[in-house]
Amino acid sequence: MDMIKQAQEKIRWARKYMSVMKEIEERFSAEKIFQDKKIGLCLHITTETAFLARILEKSGAKVYLTAANPLSTQADIVSYLENETRIKVLGFRGMTEQDHFENLQKIIDWEPDLIMDDGAELISLAHDMNNTTIIGATEETATGYYKVLKIDDESNLRFPVIATNFSFCHDLFDNKHGTSQSVIDGIIRATNALISGKSVVVAGYGQCGSIFADKIRGMGANVIVCEVNPQKALEAALAGFRILPMKQAAAEGDIFCTFTGNINVIKKEHIDVMKDNVILCNAGHYDIEIDKRALAQMAVGMEKTRENITEYVLENGKTINLIAEGRIVNMAAAEGHPAAVMDITFALQLLSLELFTIDDGTMQTSIYEVPEYIDENIANLKLEALGIQIDELDHEQLIYLENAIVD
Ligand SMILES: NC(=O)c1ccc[n+]([C@@H]2O[C@H](COP(=O)([O-])OP(=O)(O)OC[C@H]3O[C@@H](n4cnc5c(N)ncnc54)[C@H](O)[C@@H]3O)[C@@H](O)[C@H]2O)c1
Repeated sequence: MDMIKQAQEKIRWARKYMSVMKEIEERFSAEKIFQDKKIGLCLHITTETAFLARILEKSGAKVYLTAANPLSTQADIVSYLENETRIKVLGFRGMTEQDHFENLQKIIDWEPDLIMDDGAELISLAHDMNNTTIIGATEETATGYYKVLKIDDESNLRFPVIATNFSFCHDLFDNKHGTSQSVIDGIIRATNALISGKSVVVAGYGQCGSIFADKIRGMGANVIVCEVNPQKALEAALAGFRILPMKQAAAEGDIFCTFTGNINVIKKEHIDVMKDNVILCNAGHYDIEIDKRALAQMAVGMEKTRENITEYVLENGKTINLIAEGRIVNMAAAEGHPAAVMDITFALQLLSLELFTIDDGTMQTSIYEVPEYIDENIANLKLEALGIQIDELDHEQLIYLENAIVD
């Protein structure tokens, strides 16, 4: 099958699981919600992103897309978008940091009206360059949210940003169920390892790491959790996990996965005490959680042994297997979140982006969460697609609850 046909088949398959997006597609294209708007996207270039970009295009927008990560781009999708749509695409699998930065710059120089971001790099650049055309932006991930908060604290945001990460539906589908399943998928595709009986060390028991810990335990792993937050550590302990400082966990683990959004969570002193033939990977947004530089300095040999594995041979004779250069493992070594998850993630971004087109001037240059009614609307649409019916409060119950709240 040629690349374009393959991409079209992948998109057709993904659409089957993206019922909320299909509803939005119908309304947005009929109403031309983004007529003549220039929309800059910095997202992982995957099947679901292609569907999203097509919806924006059908809604009247001009779209410019770049990759959120050097290893998250699917080549067949790029080929499809370049040849079958008017969407401009930058980014290819394996691009350098310099390529990435130049691509971001090209989008900002194009002077977009709206931005949809994953990691807030486009938002940061637009802010730094004092881009005056931008009406608003959406940001998808936790790392991006904290970056935008910092910008706002230090130098007041120059345009409003809606961060979708903490909405109920995003957290449930994307952070919890999407990340956990696709990270396991990435580890297995990269290594073909049997999970049962392995000691799996999970660094970071937050929104993403906690459900991953649960799911991989369900596959028979002995899970050790490393945390720095006492409440999160307690939560993990009450869920029945062993909690250890990384220094001790490092000596016990067979597979390590980081979910912290923090730097050098696995470093030299940990690698020094690891067993032979361990597997290291990262699920956080950036490739900063495993100290790759230290690993390279400690190695006397280094070889790419499988498509997404680099094997480091240390001076002490032990080998360390790093998946996808420590980059976001579910994107780099698997296909990212399932389409049913991206249905929710992108629906939240699209409905949030729409708010900037109907804004009546009340939106300040600040950071916002997704309005509750949008989150609820998306939950209703998803329930409907799943064929799930729920009860409704009757009049008596409504009155009772209203009074209870007043009391
Ligand atoms: N792979 C994906 O598809 C995907 C999806 C969503 C989010 N993310 C990324 O995953 C990362 C985590 O996101 P989250 O929503 O779970 O964040 P979170 O803030 O809910 O959880 C992070 C946890 O890591 C802990 N932590 C911080 N430093 C640590 C350290 N040195 N050792 C041990 N624990 C430490 C924190 O206490 C916190 O509990 C972010 O970079 C986010 O952008 C990835």
